[in-house]
Amino acid sequence: MNQDELKQAVALAALVYVPEGEIIGVGTGSTANFFIDGLAGMRDRIRGAVASSEASAKRLAAHGIPLFDLNEVESMPVYVDGADEIDAGFCMIKGGGAALTREKIVSSVARRFVCIADASKKVPVLGKFPLPVEVIPLARAHVARALTALGGRPVWREGVVTDNGNIILDVHGLAIAEPARLEAEINQIVGVVTNGLFAVRPAEVLLLGTPEGVQVFER
Ligand code: A5P
Repeated sequence: MNQDELKQAVALAALVYVPEGEIIGVGTGSTANFFIDGLAGMRDRIRGAVASSEASAKRLAAHGIPLFDLNEVESMPVYVDGADEIDAGFCMIKGGGAALTREKIVSSVARRFVCIADASKKVPVLGKFPLPVEVIPLARAHVARALTALGGRPVWREGVVTDNGNIILDVHGLAIAEPARLEAEINQIVGVVTNGLFAVRPAEVLLLGTPEGVQVFER
C-alpha cells in the first residue's frame, strides 16, 4: 500500500466514529480530504459539519454536506483530523497545511478528537517536523527572535497567508521533550495566534494506517 492508500484506509475507518444525526468537526489536509469524501456517503445521516478551513468547507459543500458556523454549535461529539506527527501520548504537531488555529478552535469544541494518520506520522519524540506557528504579520520578526531564544530555528513560510490573514513561522530543530509546556510557552509570546502543538489537549483516539491494516488506539 502506498501512503495515499494508507491515508484513505485510515480516513474511511474513522466513519464509524461519526454518530448519526449530529454535527461533527472536520479537519484539513490530504487525510481529512479522504474522510470528507467518505462522509459524503453518509450525508443524509448526519446534520452537518463544522470545517476547520476554507478548503475543507469547499470540499464539504461540494459533496452537499450542510455547513455550520462554529458559533451556532455548543458542542460536538467528534472532531476528525490528520496530524503531521503524533507521539505515544497522542500529542500532535499539526499545521503543515497552515490551518492550525481553526483546527485547534474547532477541535476544542468536540468531546473526542479522532486522529487519522498513516504510520509515518507516529514518532517517539515530536519536533522533527518543523513546528508551525501562526503569527500576526506585524509581529513576525519579534516572534522569530523569541522562538530562537527558545532554541528553535524559525523559517517564514513565505507566500502563505492563513485563512485568518496571518503568516506562518515553521520552527526547525526542536526536540520537544515536554509538548504541553512548550505549547503554553509559545502561546505566551505576544503576536503568536497559536502554535501547532496539540498537547495541552491531545487526541482521544488514534487510528493508524499501517500496511497490516488500521490499528486503533484509545486513551
Ligand atoms: C493542516 O493544517 C494540518 O494540521 C493537517 O492536518 C496535517 O498537516 C496533516 O496533513 P495530511 O493529512 O495532508 O498529511
